[in-house]
Amino acid sequence: MSLTGLFLIVFLVVHCYINAQIFYNDGGTRFDEAAHFMGTNFVIRTVEIGLFAFLILHIIQGLSLWFKNRARRSIKYAVSAGNKTSAWYSRSMALLGTLILLFLIIHLFKFWGPNRLSQLTGNGELKLYDMMKDEFSHLWVVIVYLLGVISLGWHLVHGFYSAFQTLGLGTHRYKQIIKGIGVAFSIIVPLIFALMPISFYMGWVS
Ligand code: HEM
Repeated sequence: MSLTGLFLIVFLVVHCYINAQIFYNDGGTRFDEAAHFMGTNFVIRTVEIGLFAFLILHIIQGLSLWFKNRARRSIKYAVSAGNKTSAWYSRSMALLGTLILLFLIIHLFKFWGPNRLSQLTGNGELKLYDMMKDEFSHLWVVIVYLLGVISLGWHLVHGFYSAFQTLGLGTHRYKQIIKGIGVAFSIIVPLIFALMPISFYMGWVS
């Protein structure tokens, strides 16, 4: 889980950086250039296959871990220790992961799917910037995106440190540093993502 998780974290950084080009507020020129590169480059397209494979693997691993933990605890605890022994987000990784998955399905149907379909049918790339402008003019879409990135943030708070811990890198010496970087990452990246739909909706970028 940690390796697939770390790969997805790297993807998030690249995705966030490319999309952040919208903040140049230049009518989408820089964003469309970057999106065109990502959408047509052979290496990136090949990595995309790996991305989806890792994503599916990560979900399968997460679900099997969740089911295993449930099965082992066939006799429920008489008293739930609740938040005394573990944080809420670490006990709710499966719930948060499911919310992110729902968000991802909506997200892929809105942008990635139509764009790839247009390319495959020989109609070329779609204007993703204009599509974002259109999609994020609807309040419900903005709300779905905000719920998605908030779930992502919570999921990352636990997942980021957990990945390093599993790889044996979260030892005593580096524990606090890795935890700190993890929390900062889990706030900054979802915040930048959240600013995208908000900025379109509020007309801060046009
Ligand atoms: C909230 C702001 C976000 C915006 C505006 C956004 C926008 C986009 C767009 C326009 C595409 C299509 C790219 C293409 O067709 O080449 C895309 C693809 C994708 N997005 Fe997002 N995205 C956001 C957040 C996220 C988040 C939080 C995740 C993951 C949890 C995510 C995962 C993906 C994936 C897996 C793809 C398909 C793979 C790819 O094209 O590289 N996105 N996104």
